[in-house]
Amino acid sequence: MEANTSNESILALDVDGIVIGVYEDFSTIRDVIDLKPYLQIGKFKGKQGGKRLLFNVTGVKTPMVAAVGLGSKDKADEESVRIAAATGVKLLRDNGAKRVGIASLGSAKATAEGVFLGLYRFDELKTLDADKRPTIEELIFTGTEEEAREWLIGKTIAECQNFARRMGELPSNIATPTYFVEQTKKAFDGLDNVKIHDYDEKWAEKQKMGAFLSVAKGSDEPAKFLVIEYKGGNDGEKPLAIVGKGITFDTGGISLKPSQGMGAMRGDCSGAAATIATLLGIAKLGLKINAVGVAPLTENMPGGHATKPSDVVYASNGKSIEIDNTDAEGRLILSDALVYTEKTYDPHTIIDIATLTGAMMIALGSHYIGTFTPSDDLWKELEEAGNTTGEKFWRMPLDKKYKKQIESQLADIKNTGGRPAGSITAAMFLKEFIGRDRWAHLDIAGVAWAEAEEGYKPKGNVGAPVRALIHLASKYSSS
Ligand code: BES
Ligand code: MN
Ligand code: ZN
Repeated sequence: MEANTSNESILALDVDGIVIGVYEDFSTIRDVIDLKPYLQIGKFKGKQGGKRLLFNVTGVKTPMVAAVGLGSKDKADEESVRIAAATGVKLLRDNGAKRVGIASLGSAKATAEGVFLGLYRFDELKTLDADKRPTIEELIFTGTEEEAREWLIGKTIAECQNFARRMGELPSNIATPTYFVEQTKKAFDGLDNVKIHDYDEKWAEKQKMGAFLSVAKGSDEPAKFLVIEYKGGNDGEKPLAIVGKGITFDTGGISLKPSQGMGAMRGDCSGAAATIATLLGIAKLGLKINAVGVAPLTENMPGGHATKPSDVVYASNGKSIEIDNTDAEGRLILSDALVYTEKTYDPHTIIDIATLTGAMMIALGSHYIGTFTPSDDLWKELEEAGNTTGEKFWRMPLDKKYKKQIESQLADIKNTGGRPAGSITAAMFLKEFIGRDRWAHLDIAGVAWAEAEEGYKPKGNVGAPVRALIHLASKYSSS
């Protein structure tokens, strides 16, 4: 699809269809046109997510107008804009429009996010034409120069999030650790101030990453430890660090998962995918910060050399870990990644992202990201980023009372804490490998996948929380 910008009035665009935002009082965004006479009859009430396709509207050059709901005028926020933009372009696309025009629905950036996130489809593995659905060939954004700049920022952010969605959605026979490295190098090709390291298992042995390697041992697929360094800030300026769980498939290992629904575990690399995509956004937007992204990548398999329950391994900070359950592998690979990131980069802030626990899904479902941090300041920054971008965070406790559940008979600590508070004991485990206050652990197990397509979200991997983290990074850039 071609995407262009123009400064013509949206009503004068010579296209197949345009998108017009409508509030609950039936007034249109910026009162660009009076659609009331067309909207008075019917179910469309201007509510968020609502839509109505109109034909041959007087005073408009294009044959189709997609009226999309922005909700009540005083409550319309970026999230309503994203949903309305996605709803509008999809409605036109599904009705055969090949050329589509759109203007800002309140925020040009959020409009672009809605459009490009909404039009994303994962169908690259389908080979039959019959399976291909209609597409838009040309999209024209009309607005001021300032709005066109904002639009391009939103488009970039959406494309990075779509990169994360794709990496999370791809099956594990294609998206191996090696493929992650290749795709990352390809995505960053030509961008300035970026250095990529793709360390192998030999290197991890030298680093004494016994926890990471204990997971990799059960698989014949070579593990990788991917590091992306971005230098957009000054020499010696501490970086923002993002660390993502990259289990390209989680069978559970010897503590094997049930077969029902196991295929969803191809998405157990969603944290790594979001990490890479966030760094990609930071680099593409040229933010004036230093940043580092770290992704330990491996399968969790029950091979002949696989780790067995009660085995004891040593993480790279020397701590001994009793592996009580090989299915609690995410915290193992993250422990070594956190130790490495702190000691190598001394970041001002370190954020890890992981599809870590089924318990997180039970606790918060799919609307909030479970957020664990000892820092009140970092919590406030994340809360603001979540509310602006629609990827919302909910703070969870990190109380030392929970530590008792992960005490081990054999070693310093064990990797499970029983059924009660399963996502909190997982976070308490990670905390053992962190030495600073400005750390946040984001458990995205509940939000990583969507059961059904809705608004700008596809069915499947949603690429969370790439928008929120790029927003957070951009705040560090301006201050
Ligand atoms: N990747 C899973 C967590 C998960 C489960 C994410 C379902 C999304 C949907 C993780 O590695 C895991 O298996 N966790 C175990 C931990 C338990 C053994 C302590 C879990 O949550 O059951
Ligand atoms: Mn697991
Ligand atoms: Zn897992």
